[in-house]
Amino acid sequence: MIVLGIESSCDETGVALYELGQGLLAHEIHSQIDLHALYGGVVPELASRDHIQRLVPLTQQIVHKAGLKTQDIAGVAFTSGPGLAGALMTGALMARSLAFSLGCPALGVHHMEGHLLAPMLEPETPDFPFVCLLVSGGHTLLVRVDGVGQYRVLGESVDDAAGEAFDKTAKVLGLPYPGGPHLAKLALEGNAKAIDLPRPMMNRPGLDFSFSGLKTAAITAMRDNPDLNPADLAASFEAAIVDTLLGKCRRALKQESVETLVISGGVGANQRLREQATTDMASAGGRVFYPRLEFCTDNGAMIALAGALRLQSGEQDGLALNIRPRWSLEALTAVS
Ligand code: KG4
Ligand code: ZN
Repeated sequence: MIVLGIESSCDETGVALYELGQGLLAHEIHSQIDLHALYGGVVPELASRDHIQRLVPLTQQIVHKAGLKTQDIAGVAFTSGPGLAGALMTGALMARSLAFSLGCPALGVHHMEGHLLAPMLEPETPDFPFVCLLVSGGHTLLVRVDGVGQYRVLGESVDDAAGEAFDKTAKVLGLPYPGGPHLAKLALEGNAKAIDLPRPMMNRPGLDFSFSGLKTAAITAMRDNPDLNPADLAASFEAAIVDTLLGKCRRALKQESVETLVISGGVGANQRLREQATTDMASAGGRVFYPRLEFCTDNGAMIALAGALRLQSGEQDGLALNIRPRWSLEALTAVS
């Protein structure tokens, strides 16, 4: 069953064709970074308008690239939430109308389930159960995963998501949107031990995160000391986030008696996080899996994969246009 996956929850238009036996057949991503850079953040209305313009040509492009015809599509999966309502609506509308015209099923997919399953796009895939650290611009979650659709949230951010903290600190450093990758690049030239920043919530039991205090501490350090080397601040800030994320991962793995860690979502593209997690897991005798860099940030391939698994098991939406801007991962049902 060839499944078209459509991602349009925020500022990337992603489309992909996936088949459970053959794997990924083709994919394309269009990033709206240039469009929003001028405003220092995502402008929802501009995002929706751009998705509308890109969705059809990008889909035609991947169908052609895969050597297929549109009629070969046997199911359409789209991100139905969480995300920006208008942006979600563009993908839902495209998916629902295309599926109707082809006479095939359509299914709304949870964006974070897409991120969570993205490592399964790689040749070597993690076995269940595993603990997944989901770190994106809107979410920081630690999830126990016992199977597709079997998710228990172990901890989450009580305020800013990790990506959000990266982006806000980067903005104060004068770096362009989106700040995370720019801050990470600047951090490569700095000394991570230069500024002593807190590792929030580490001295308390539990698996929740809080990054807004860390962000404020970094911003205050910079305001109080105008001679501070921005690269040192970037490196110290990145180290504090990575130490905190991985400290909680170790705690979660121990609590759940699980030896496999999965890291996914935009911040999962962070090199320091990936290297430190690999070292940590090797010394603990466990394993860590991540998607390739381009599938850490938003993409259509992860939606096509999650959709294919669910469509194959017989799940599908009705004819109504369904979006869920707020949607808990735990509300999903298990795929048999
Ligand atoms: O998953 P994603 O593409 O979109 C959401 O679903 O939110 O994540 C985007 C987030 C942004 O906050 C971005 O700054 C961050 O991921 N990000 C990074 C890196 N690459 C992307 N943060 C730190 N280091 C990176 N290399
Ligand atoms: Zn995302």
